[in-house]
Amino acid sequence: MRMVDVIEKKRDGHELSTEEIQFFVDGYTDGSIPDYQVSALTMAIFFQGMTEKERADLTMAMVKSGDQIDLSAIEGVKVDKHSTGGVGDTTTLVLGPLVAALGVPVAKMSGRGLGHTGGTIDKLEAVEGFHVEIDNEEFINLVNKNKIAVIGQSGNLTPADKKLYSLRDVTATVDSIPLIASSIMSKKIAAGADAIVLDVKTGAGAFMKTLDDSRELAKAMVRIGNNVGRRTMAVISDMSQPLGYAIGNALEVKEAIDTLKGEGPEDLTELCLTLGSHMVFLAGKGESLGEARSKLEEVIKNGSALETFKVFLASQGGDASVVDDPSKLPQAKYTFELEAKEAGYVSEIIADEVGTAAMLLGAGRATKESVIDLAVGLVLRKKIGDKVEKGESLLTIYSNFEDVNEVKEMLYENIKVTSEHVDAPILVHEEIT
Ligand code: URA
Ligand code: CA
Repeated sequence: MRMVDVIEKKRDGHELSTEEIQFFVDGYTDGSIPDYQVSALTMAIFFQGMTEKERADLTMAMVKSGDQIDLSAIEGVKVDKHSTGGVGDTTTLVLGPLVAALGVPVAKMSGRGLGHTGGTIDKLEAVEGFHVEIDNEEFINLVNKNKIAVIGQSGNLTPADKKLYSLRDVTATVDSIPLIASSIMSKKIAAGADAIVLDVKTGAGAFMKTLDDSRELAKAMVRIGNNVGRRTMAVISDMSQPLGYAIGNALEVKEAIDTLKGEGPEDLTELCLTLGSHMVFLAGKGESLGEARSKLEEVIKNGSALETFKVFLASQGGDASVVDDPSKLPQAKYTFELEAKEAGYVSEIIADEVGTAAMLLGAGRATKESVIDLAVGLVLRKKIGDKVEKGESLLTIYSNFEDVNEVKEMLYENIKVTSEHVDAPILVHEEIT
């Protein structure tokens, strides 16, 4: 087989065979096919698209390019949740213990990465002593025993995707639905999921800014999952404003604790119940979505979700007493209030810009080398639609810098107050199966 023929076939709008897709993925991974040929192919895919069969083939070829995590020693249906990424998205911290409390096994492989705040592992490391340096055997034992454990990402998961994503980044071919969908799904499948619940975000703080684009991506991923034998569904949820109140690592751990106690922000609680119901249902632990939801509400009420969180933290070295005393979490030296300059209704809290403000305080990594400050971040006091008086706090800034004027200015530019009443945005737009 010659790569030039594969490029030509896709350039002219034809469907690539399973063998042709396997050929270019293998060749790119082992270095026998050069960057310039693969970039020509990804550009052809960008313009010509891919059929459902090609998308499934590309996904599985990338899955097979590296390690595949074997979770077969864990009892039950392993349901993974994936979010396409947002600002202050605390759902993973809440959902893990929440569904585990109902016996749904949560075998989470997680990463750090760049962004407004740290990844799930960074957030959990705000709990003194917590670590993810456990071997596979211990990981599996912990999931069987406690129904929940988190491990760091294997270095050799989907190397083909790693190379392709970096190449797409510098050849203007990231924004292709088939390529994004296969990239995301390959990582979930290689990590061992039997079933997948996707939280596809939409709005200013999301990868996909419009509902149409978010829907198209959600459908593409759901089809890939189901076509390769993993039951998959997607929820499209709002990310025009940050989710919940807290944006920052320790601050989000505290928010997760509040939510597991039944005292969390309304939107975060609702989204966790929605995603959680689907996870419980796919895991076969509920007869219907309604029943799954009632069971989740029950484990919040009776304290077993919170207890599961404690056991999980302690079993990976963490000081579980932070759950009863969150003042033991890292604390910022200074707090500042962002006071409303006029009375009215909050009309916009532009998620990505507010996230960047949190990153400037040190809550997230701007580059791989950046060091995160786990204590700092933002806590919203108002959300879109809320009434605010002049001088009332819109949010609290938690900082280890004494001068936050630049951050304040940025926040004022991105949090708008108007005189007319504004409705809160719709939280869950659609569910796609
Ligand atoms: N996120 C991914 O993991 N892959 C993409 O291609 C785009 C976003
Ligand atoms: Ca949050």
